[in-house]
Formats: sequence, C-alpha cells, structure tokens
Amino acid sequence: MRDQAVKLVDKYLQSEHLIKHSYAVEAVMKALGEKLEPQKTDEWAMAGLLHDLDSDLLDYKNNAEESRLHGIKTVEILKNENFGNEYIYQAIKAHNEDENGIKRESVMDKAIYAADPITGFITAIALVYPDKKLASVKVKSVTKRMKEMKFAAGANRDAMRSIEDLGIPFAEFAKLSLEAMQGISDTLGL
Ligand SMILES: [Fe+2]
Repeated sequence: MRDQAVKLVDKYLQSEHLIKHSYAVEAVMKALGEKLEPQKTDEWAMAGLLHDLDSDLLDYKNNAEESRLHGIKTVEILKNENFGNEYIYQAIKAHNEDENGIKRESVMDKAIYAADPITGFITAIALVYPDKKLASVKVKSVTKRMKEMKFAAGANRDAMRSIEDLGIPFAEFAKLSLEAMQGISDTLGL
C-alpha cells in the first residue's frame, strides 16, 4: 500500500516543501495512529502522506473556489488512481473543513487537523537553531513557542491544540510529533 502511495506523491507533487510536508505529516499520523487506533495505523499514515496531493494543482492560497476544492480534488485523484478507501477520503476532505465545510467526524479526521500544522511549526523551530537540525529541538521549545504568537504567526495554534479534544495533552503531542519527525530527519533534510 505504501509503495503505491509514494508513487502518487512522486507523480502529483513537485514542490520540495510539499513533498517534505507530506512525509512529515505521514510520520506524525503513523505515531498518532499507533496510539489512538492501532489496528488502522496504515490508513492513518496514508491519510497523512496523501492529504495535500492536490496542492500543486490548485491555487488555493489566492483563489477562493480552488481553496474550497482542496481535499475534494485529492479524493478525485485517488479514486481515479484506484487508491484508498472512504475512511481515508473523509479524513483528507475534512482536514480542510475550514474552507470546504466537510465536517471532521472520526478520531482520525480530528487528528490530521492537528498533525498538519504541527509539522510546519516544528520545522520553523528547528530552523532557528544554528545547525537547523530537528535533533536540537526540545519538547520544551515547542510548548514555549506555542505561547509566542509572533513566532510562526501563520501556524494555527487552535488546530494544534485541538489534539487535547482527543485526550492527548499538548506536550505529549509535541513530543510524539517531534520524535516522529526526528525519525525521518534525512528525508526532511533537517
Ligand atoms: Fe498539509
């Protein structure tokens, strides 16, 4: 299953930052899945890896209609490619609930909403260090930076903090996410 998903990433994503972001969200979702729904860890990982698959095809930062389609378009692609299932599709569509109105329902839907922004946030923290390495980042720096609203101002803190609705304290989420990203630091180049 993963081999095919990696081929889809290679086929549809060109932007270096989106490719790295996809692998980072995969790693965090896999770790969250192991904790929250161990029997479905593969689906959690695939939802993470593929959630932004349409992002090089849509100008969703500047175009309201295309931003509404973000997620919906990915599911269209996956169906055409005969990949995935409804459980994965729903999480991918609902990760963009803020724009497309498709509600987050399952625990996985809610988890990806928090996992998506924390990867960029942790990356931004790593880049502050002289060596720009994830190995230099401490859990404490993540929790501290959460309160500095000027730091990585675009990172959606409410979304990241919503992990607590699933019974995971934020500091634990920060640790799990940091360790998951450190585990693929070569892929992330950090
Ligand atoms: Fe994303």
